Formats: sequence, C-alpha cells, structure tokens
Amino acid sequence: MELGLAGKVVLVTGGSDGLGAALVRALSQERAKVAFCARSEDRVQALAGELVAAGGDVIGVRADVRQEADLERFVAAALDRWGRIDGLVNNAGASSAVPFDAQTESLWDEDLDLKLRAAIRLIRLTLPHLRTAGAGSIVNVLAISGKAPGAGSTPTSVSRAAGLALTKALSREFGPDQIRVNAVLIGIVRSGQGQRGAAAQGVTVEEYYDKIGVTANIPVGRVGLPSEFADLALFLLSERSAFITGVGINFDGGLSPVT
Ligand SMILES: NC(=O)c1ccc[n+]([C@@H]2O[C@H](COP(=O)([O-])OP(=O)(O)OC[C@H]3O[C@@H](n4cnc5c(N)ncnc54)[C@H](OP(=O)(O)O)[C@@H]3O)[C@@H](O)[C@H]2O)c1
Repeated sequence: MELGLAGKVVLVTGGSDGLGAALVRALSQERAKVAFCARSEDRVQALAGELVAAGGDVIGVRADVRQEADLERFVAAALDRWGRIDGLVNNAGASSAVPFDAQTESLWDEDLDLKLRAAIRLIRLTLPHLRTAGAGSIVNVLAISGKAPGAGSTPTSVSRAAGLALTKALSREFGPDQIRVNAVLIGIVRSGQGQRGAAAQGVTVEEYYDKIGVTANIPVGRVGLPSEFADLALFLLSERSAFITGVGINFDGGLSPVT
C-alpha cells in the first residue's frame, strides 16, 4: 500500500528508543521528514546520525516533554528546517503504576505532566501549522489501562483515560479542519522498558516477559513488536486513514478485556 508519506513533516516525542524509535525509522524509510525528541542527547544524536547517514531527512532534538520551553524549541527546530507540520505523535512516556496508599502528590504531578500536559501543549503549539497545511494527523500513544484500569494502575491509567477523552474531544473539534486525532492503546510491547527489566534480572527479554507472567495472558501468545506499532502509526498518519478519527485502537494482541 502506498502511504503517501514522502515529504510529510512528522514530529515524534520519545523517539530515541522503543516504539518511538521504530516509528522514526519507519517514517524515514517512507521518506517523510522527521523531527523527534528525547532527553538523552547521546541516544538522540546516535539515531539521528544513523538515519541521516542512510539518506534520511531527520532531526533529533534533546528535549524533555515536561518542560514547555523544550517543547517550543522542538517545534521551532522542525519549522526552521521545513516550514510546515503535517503530523504529531505524542509518544514519550513511562509506566507509573503504584498502590494508592503509597502515592504522593508529586507522583501525580509528574505523571500528568509527562503524559497529559505534554500532549496538550504540543497539540497547542502544532495546531496552527497543521491548519496551515490544510490537513493533519495527531496520534496519541496511550495504554490499555486507560480503558480498563486495574487495581494499582494509577496514576498511569488515569492519565491515559484523560488522553482518551482529549483524543475524542479534539477529533470532533478539529474534524472540520481535516485534522484527525486518534489514539493507540498499548498492551505489552517489547521496548526499552522490557530490555532494562531483563538486563537487571540477567535474563533474556522473552524470559523476562514469561517471568512477570504477561505472555500467558495475551491471547495471541506473545508480546508485540515495535515494528508492528510503527505499521499502525504509519497508517494513522497517512491519508489512507483519512476517514478515521476519534478512535482508540487497542494494540495488545487481544489482552484488553474491552474493545
Ligand atoms: N512498551 C509497552 O509495553 C508499553 C505499554 C503501555 C504503554 N506504553 C507507552 O508507549 C510509549 C512508548 O513506550 P516504550 O515502551 O517505547 O518506552 P521506552 O522504550 O522506554 O522509550 C521511551 C522513549 O521516550 C523518551 N522519554 C521518556 N521520558 C521523556 C521525557 N520526559 N521527555 C522526552 N522524552 C522522553 C525516552 O528517551 P529518554 O529517556 O532519553 O528521554 C525514549 O526515547 C510510552 O508513552 C509508554 O508509556 C508502552
């Protein structure tokens, strides 16, 4: 399927590892122009350097999405380089699921800043440029706990549920401008998080997922791959999905109990 992403300018947060890095690579292969950000300068420059060396039009920006000034710098870098924005993927995040009794006020602030306020701010910063482009696609990367929260799943599940409401509300508001807003709700996908857990326990990534008991609960019998996430996100960013907006797609091998 020809996705028509060549020449489109797409911003991806949390693009140096895991799902975000797979998407940045896939976008570059589709000949999109890609700006991505993350906090670790080394990892940002390593991926950007690799993709540019392979002929990609990619910029990596060191930015913490919790800092408004960093977000402004990230968007400005893309505009300085290409003068337009066609897509935004709010992907940066990390799990924060703690029993309620053990939580602090600052834990909630940190989680909401990382997963909700960062997305709100970036949408605000990019919206005028998506409008100028005449159409656009925003993809919010969330978690299945946003639809089906379990015990001990907050604050993440609450931040993700808010992200889902944001997705739906803005899809209705921006629809007339041909700006689509969709969410992908992640189950368990092989990523930096899993690799760090496996390394800490001295086991393979497969053994790690078996050990924490997740694989057995996934109907298709395995965790997801970042490249499979990238395929879905590419489709949502492309005009091939022009009639799809306001949806929250479970990307979980059937793990979630709700659709
Ligand atoms: N993988 C899963 O099973 C799973 C499950 C549910 C939800 N998710 C969600 O899916 C998204 C991607 O997760 P992943 O598994 O790919 O994670 P990952 O492998 O740990 O990668 C996270 C990426 O985000 C960046 N990042 C983290 N905090 C950031 C910040 N404050 N500002 C800018 N960049 C930041 C990281 O780089 P730096 O650390 O250098 O900043 C890295 O590039 C996240 O929102 C995560 O919560 C994933």
